[in-house]
Amino acid sequence: MAKKKSNYENLIQSEKLPLHIAIIMDGNGRWAQRRLLPRTMGHRAGMSTLKEIVRACSDLGVKVLTVYAFSTENWKRPWEEVDYLMKLLVEFLRKEINELHQNQVRIKVLGNYSNLPLECQSEIEDALQITRDNPGLLLNIALNYGSRQEILAAVKVLARKVAAGEIEPDVINEETFSGLLYTKDIPDPDLLIRTAGEMRISNFLLWQIAYTELWITECLWPDFSKDDLLQAVWDYQQRDRKFGGLNGERQDGINA
Ligand code: IPE
Ligand code: IPE
Ligand code: MG
Repeated sequence: MAKKKSNYENLIQSEKLPLHIAIIMDGNGRWAQRRLLPRTMGHRAGMSTLKEIVRACSDLGVKVLTVYAFSTENWKRPWEEVDYLMKLLVEFLRKEINELHQNQVRIKVLGNYSNLPLECQSEIEDALQITRDNPGLLLNIALNYGSRQEILAAVKVLARKVAAGEIEPDVINEETFSGLLYTKDIPDPDLLIRTAGEMRISNFLLWQIAYTELWITECLWPDFSKDDLLQAVWDYQQRDRKFGGLNGERQDGINA
């Protein structure tokens, strides 16, 4: 099985790589439960996977990786779990920042992190500052992120501008709207991976994934490996992206 999977490396066409991969990193809790471990241990194992997948995307030459780390709805979980996730974020940034920086990774946060614990905020600010000019992989960490909230915030900005007479409603188009989202200036994801098998989007990048290719695997996030990533990329390369048309051309003119 492992032998077969590693073949994907040779099969991938470097000129057809997805520019932007987004991942819903799901299944940490189930991974732990299956091992009779506390859920928190699943999150810890998931952190190692994240490290490996960031490196793999960097090596592969992917330009943007967006990972869903904590949703606006994840606050509903027991406070011990939320607290652990916040501490794990601090640990991840502290431990990994040097290597990420050396590998030219630029970190960005999607979501409102101003109401996270102060320790998280300062670690995030440091990571953003240290990596801000790096030319390598852009790593977007979706943290306290909710797509509906993101869309509503953009709607409010536009509504205020219209009410103040600054703009006419008719000038609002897809471009102006996209420019008000956290993903401003970032191309939409080409490939969305969800681990742990759920067939849903869970409030992730609803606007941005209009024409994204979906790839859902039963594999739980802590078990997800570079080979799984390569398989997803290979599978993506077999797809015929049509964007509503007939000949597989992207609306933005970039060859898919
Ligand atoms: C994903 O794993 C991590 C976060 C949501 C933070 P889960 O914790 O949702 O794992 P399952 O879905 O319970 O297995
Ligand atoms: C999505 O997973 C959020 C993250 C991976 C951070 P959830 O586990 O929160 O999604 P649902 O609740 O199964 O839809
Ligand atoms: Mg889950």
